Amino acid sequence: MVINQETVLVAKSSAKHLYEQVADRIRELILQGTLQPGDRLPSVRKLHQQLSVSISTVMEAYRLLEDRGLITVRPQSGYYVKASIKSQEPHSSDPPQQASSVDTSIVSRVYADLDIPDIVKLGAGVPSSQLLPLATLNRLMSKVIRTHPQISHTYHAFGGCESLRQEIAKKLIDAGCSISADRILVTNGAAEAVYLALQAVTQPGDIVAIESPCYYGLLQTLESLHLKALELPTSPREGLSLEHLETALDRSEIAACVIVSNFSNPLGSCMSDRRKQDLVELLNKYDIPLIEDDIYGDLSFLGNRPKAIKAFDTQGRVLYCSSVSKTLSPGLRVGWLVAERNLMEVKKLKIVTNVMTSIVPQLTVAAFFANGGYERHLRKLRRTYQAQMEKMRVTISNYFPPQIRMTQPQGGQFLWLELPKNFDVLELYQAALEYKISIAPGVIFSPSQSYGNCLRLNFGLLWSEESDRAERSSLSSNRDKVEIALNILGALAQQQLARVLLKYY
Ligand SMILES: Cc1ncc(COP(=O)(O)O)c(C=O)c1O
Repeated sequence: MVINQETVLVAKSSAKHLYEQVADRIRELILQGTLQPGDRLPSVRKLHQQLSVSISTVMEAYRLLEDRGLITVRPQSGYYVKASIKSQEPHSSDPPQQASSVDTSIVSRVYADLDIPDIVKLGAGVPSSQLLPLATLNRLMSKVIRTHPQISHTYHAFGGCESLRQEIAKKLIDAGCSISADRILVTNGAAEAVYLALQAVTQPGDIVAIESPCYYGLLQTLESLHLKALELPTSPREGLSLEHLETALDRSEIAACVIVSNFSNPLGSCMSDRRKQDLVELLNKYDIPLIEDDIYGDLSFLGNRPKAIKAFDTQGRVLYCSSVSKTLSPGLRVGWLVAERNLMEVKKLKIVTNVMTSIVPQLTVAAFFANGGYERHLRKLRRTYQAQMEKMRVTISNYFPPQIRMTQPQGGQFLWLELPKNFDVLELYQAALEYKISIAPGVIFSPSQSYGNCLRLNFGLLWSEESDRAERSSLSSNRDKVEIALNILGALAQQQLARVLLKYY
């Protein structure tokens, strides 16, 4: 029997619960193919004895695997492996080696389509509002207005409220950073933080090194600042290729580098600590500033939050950006920028751009961080996202063409899918719109409009009713919506691919 104490290796000190560790190991055995679809799992009682863990631990582990769509229970018979996912990872990217100016008109078109009423937003980057702690945030916001009736309506603390900056400084300790609150500038979301950071360290016409594919919002920022983008090869697992970055630094005048360090958008890649440190050393050598966007760092499925690149910065060259948009509320528009060398410059630019960030959202987020149960909320959100990611992968491998490659992120909010080379994702995009389904076509993630055979899907839409039993009854239609949308998308992709294959062979 493969599931025994040696194979499960339960580490009592791990940040994950015991049942999560048991579930993780069984999941690995399924994904490796050691356990095959149809295989019967040991009974709850047997596994409890084999692993010397409680019956309820085994039951919770099995329930988690059921939530993730990996196993199924047959009445009077037991638990069985439901799915195996055979798909491979997408290839590392191989973008053009020339820097180019950026045109994002196609991004605006995709944005406009997201406003179609009742569309299933698999292409958007927003979490379901049911997964956000809106009741607590609203309660805290009312309290802020009651207790600060005047300050909320004045010009106050241009760089950001002291209480919020203190809370952010405390949060940064988890990312391995020791930062004093006076180095933190509060911004209108991470988008503004990246915008101000880029403005502080570049001039129009400069070249900026970026991951490829990269978040389309960054491309819009580069375009509006008249900057050129140099796309660099990026792997779905390890992120940006440092070897290619070094070659590019030797070859071209690069003004800055922008990286989404943890669970990037769209690839979901996460750099190891070793590579984070190597990257900082490389940038020290060439004296280049780094803009780090760590907006997804808190959404790790691994138990512990990964370190930021900023944690390895000894020369104050990393401008660190993040926000609460992916964890608490995109609408509050609360983000932050940690700057050392460029602090005065970014503060000045913030005042010129929009003076300050509104006080009420700042104090609301500060109160949530201080005593709103942020860690508890994150634990639940991560668990839900991981379950939804697994379920989405299982569903895709059931409905999509077998040639599909897809990522297996360890955090964040997105899956990246790669179809065979001649597949036209814009055709799939249009066909899906007819069924009121939005996807994010690969071309919007690259200034050279590469990735015409790829797409990004959002697993942050509430799907699994099992993920929150308390809300079960109101969610079933939503769950069906995502499953049906994936089913339709898969059928459309199958039909389209069949036409492509007929044409080329
Ligand atoms: C990598 C990345 N950076 C920044 C943003 C924008 O964040 P915010 O809404 O906090 O401005 C997003 C939103 O999707 C993102 O994916």
